[in-house]
Amino acid sequence: GGLVWRGCSASCDAEDGTAGALTDGNANPGDKLEGPGAAPDDPVHLKRRVGLFSGVALIVGTMIGSGIFVSPSGLLERTGSVGISFIIWMACGLLSLLGALAYAELGTMNTSSGAEYAYFMDAFGGPPAFLFSWVSTLVLKPSQMAIICLSFAKYAVEPFVSECEPPDALVKLVSVIAIVMILAVNCYSVNLATNVQNIFTAAKLVAVAIIVCGGAYKLILGNTRHLQEPNFASSTATLGNIATAFYTGLWAYDGWNNLNYVTEEIKNPSKNLPLSIIIGIPLVTLCYALVNVSYLAVMSMSEMVDSEAVAVTFGNRLLGPMAWLMPLAVTISTFGSANGTLFVAGRLCFAASREGHLLDILSYVHVRRFTPAPGLIFHSLIAVAMVLYGTIDSLIDFFSFTAWIFYGGAMLALIVMRYTKPHAPRPYKVPIIIPYIVLLVSTYLVIGPILDKPQWEYLYAAAFILGGLLVYLPFVKWGYSLPFMDKITVFLQLVLEVVPTSTTFE
Ligand code: ARG
Repeated sequence: GGLVWRGCSASCDAEDGTAGALTDGNANPGDKLEGPGAAPDDPVHLKRRVGLFSGVALIVGTMIGSGIFVSPSGLLERTGSVGISFIIWMACGLLSLLGALAYAELGTMNTSSGAEYAYFMDAFGGPPAFLFSWVSTLVLKPSQMAIICLSFAKYAVEPFVSECEPPDALVKLVSVIAIVMILAVNCYSVNLATNVQNIFTAAKLVAVAIIVCGGAYKLILGNTRHLQEPNFASSTATLGNIATAFYTGLWAYDGWNNLNYVTEEIKNPSKNLPLSIIIGIPLVTLCYALVNVSYLAVMSMSEMVDSEAVAVTFGNRLLGPMAWLMPLAVTISTFGSANGTLFVAGRLCFAASREGHLLDILSYVHVRRFTPAPGLIFHSLIAVAMVLYGTIDSLIDFFSFTAWIFYGGAMLALIVMRYTKPHAPRPYKVPIIIPYIVLLVSTYLVIGPILDKPQWEYLYAAAFILGGLLVYLPFVKWGYSLPFMDKITVFLQLVLEVVPTSTTFE
């Protein structure tokens, strides 16, 4: 198992692109996929190369993606109040921080990790761990990809349709094109994918900086009108509305647990993992607070709700002839996030199938390019289906609902292990009240929307998660395989030119 999850860690290392940029990039464990000759210097342990700075960069680079450019409108729409949505933005930051602190204990306690997968294995055993890899490969990662690509498309077409709403079909078409382009990049070469990642990460920071500076400029000119009407009275918030508003906000913060996929590569993890979290997450929270204030410095709440692409409206109002800068920066930033997400998704899928948790074919790599093409294609197909049948908001709800079941599960794992493994070394011990709080909130986040407004999607998601057991028992536990599977595998191998990688890895 160790080898497999090192594959995952390696990919996560490069996900946000920052760690890749900060380290030399040589003998990156991900390079194993570059070919048999590119074995890492130490086959058993990864080099510990992520220091405090890269740890913080990894967190910040993963968290800031599409959310801050699309969520503010949705959040305002759901709460109906500037004041309440601001509180929710901050609460999302706090919740992510608390969750990540609990993950810091889990990650320093179990350092040979694939994050949740490893913690579930420790605390609850095989089936829940399987369910996690099942859901993350089939639902979580593809839906992340779909949401980010839809956001990309929204911003890519917006400048061409001026102030009116772009046609839905066009947005979906552009999203699919984006997915195909990202798939091509990732199938073409691992290096190209990480380079794209590095360059595009910088763009998102530029976009945030432009917005914050622009907003500050407006505020200095005295444009504080929209901020002075917090409007708690106009709030449309019900219990379920607040939970789904949280979904929207938490999407922008998703990725707060990403350092846990690379625990093995962090220098002095018992110190640097918690420290990176304590620095990184409040930093993102601060950025989001400033960006929200900046948006309101330039437009009113109802203008924000009506705006199809809030950063474009912002640019049009403020940047004059340079207005094109905003959609460009956001498309580049979202393209980069989607690229990183697919990069990890491919490896995660690859990892799970090497555990015997998914079909073998998904773990094969291309004979010449050494990229995990089948896994990437598989993910992209699911992502395309999600793009065609979903909308950004429905996918975010669907994603957050599912993700928070597992984040809550990780809190439960922590609490359970305090009892079942009281003496295991815990270099960083989180105050036990924190996982309880996060568990409570995640329970509310999962149950709140169902009680408030039952939707079939939630039932499908729950059924899908549990449906994993129907796959687990026969195919993983009892080891059956479908009779025609061999033929399909051989056929796909010939078409895609892929081979198993065990010789490269073991
Ligand atoms: N928070 C990011 C955004 O706003 C999404 C991160 C997706 N999650 C991940 N682990 N890559 O777009």
